[in-house]
Amino acid sequence: MMRIPNRTVTVNRTPIYIGNQVFTEVDKFVRNLHPAGIFILTDLNTKHYCLPLLLEHSVTLKKASVICTDGGEAAKSIENATKIWIDLLHAGAERSSLIINLGGGVVSDLGGFIAAGFKRGITYINVPTSLIGQADASIGGKTGINVGNLKNQVGFIYPAAGVFIFPGFLQSLPADHLRSGLAEIIKSALIGNEKLWHRISRQQLQGLLSGPFDSGFWVRMVLEAVQQKNKVVMHDLHERKKRKMLNFGHTIGHALEGFSMNSPGQPLLHGDAVAAGMICATYLSHLKTGLPLADMEAIVGFLRTVFPPFPLDGDSLTKVSELIKQDKKQQNRKVQFTLLSKPGKPVINVTCVKEEICDALMFYNVSISS
Ligand SMILES: NC(=O)c1ccc[n+]([C@@H]2O[C@H](COP(=O)([O-])OP(=O)(O)OC[C@H]3O[C@@H](n4cnc5c(N)ncnc54)[C@H](O)[C@@H]3O)[C@@H](O)[C@H]2O)c1
Repeated sequence: MMRIPNRTVTVNRTPIYIGNQVFTEVDKFVRNLHPAGIFILTDLNTKHYCLPLLLEHSVTLKKASVICTDGGEAAKSIENATKIWIDLLHAGAERSSLIINLGGGVVSDLGGFIAAGFKRGITYINVPTSLIGQADASIGGKTGINVGNLKNQVGFIYPAAGVFIFPGFLQSLPADHLRSGLAEIIKSALIGNEKLWHRISRQQLQGLLSGPFDSGFWVRMVLEAVQQKNKVVMHDLHERKKRKMLNFGHTIGHALEGFSMNSPGQPLLHGDAVAAGMICATYLSHLKTGLPLADMEAIVGFLRTVFPPFPLDGDSLTKVSELIKQDKKQQNRKVQFTLLSKPGKPVINVTCVKEEICDALMFYNVSISS
């Protein structure tokens, strides 16, 4: 495994450590905090693949209690959060206890939500283990749960006290979850780093996704994404303005993801749904915010070769449009999008009407079948 010197980036007073030595930083953090009880939240996979590594390298966590939740989107529910709050109470957790979220975006969204609510807010840290977790979800303080198949409808902006990224965790991550994480990195490039977009779009991604694990490539991607998120979140933690740019691809992506949760077959992975949402948003960008045709074709062409298609029939189109209308990002009953005027240049608060959204979904359908 490549040697990765420790680096620290600070996002809104949350230190983010990245490197092979982060477990030492976790130890230092825990020693300074002196928590009354440590609770490590995992899912089944991260308990199996990641917890042994964390415990092996940490002195302070030997006596931590482990709470293991089911994985997947369904775990981000109020029922599951309540179950974990009850587990914490039974295990004697206090106001000055510490929660450690060891997992992907599901564990950090859920664990952050639990920490925000428990005893009116206890300290938590994120030790992200998936690519989405490391590049995006563990940073910026957004926590939340789903309501039915509506994504992230209830939550808090409640930042972690620290984020500790050990790139080696990605080695056990299945290839489809690496691909899913790549979607958030592509988003981060498209909204703020044109050079990174061109670099990614020239990569032979199939080899990187299914061949031997190239830690150098993935660490560079995580670093780029963390720095980009930092730039955005440090100015607008509460998403009043600039942070909305991070929603590129998510308005339609969340609706597709939510729709797939209630459909037969495997639900869409978050990143695959975001990639489909980005195809739609790229089409709308050409229509409404002047994204040149050549850029639209390059972005759409690239996304459709990397991410799996999710064809929509007439009935699904109607259901997805309904979910989009209910998206939390809409204002005064208008659905607002983040679009692009060119790669790297986002335009926020663009209102799109129902017909434009349907056109974008139909464009998606055609683009994946051609
Ligand atoms: N809060 C935010 O800012 C933010 C940003 C982006 C995404 N999200 C949320 O993140 C979630 C998606 O994140 P995700 O894709 O990480 O989901 P996830 O947490 O479900 O992880 C994906 C899968 O990988 C497994 N896994 C994780 N790390 C592993 C490892 N090292 N080895 C083996 N298996 C491992 C998990 O068990 C799971 O099966 C969505 O709910 C999305 O809404 C939140």
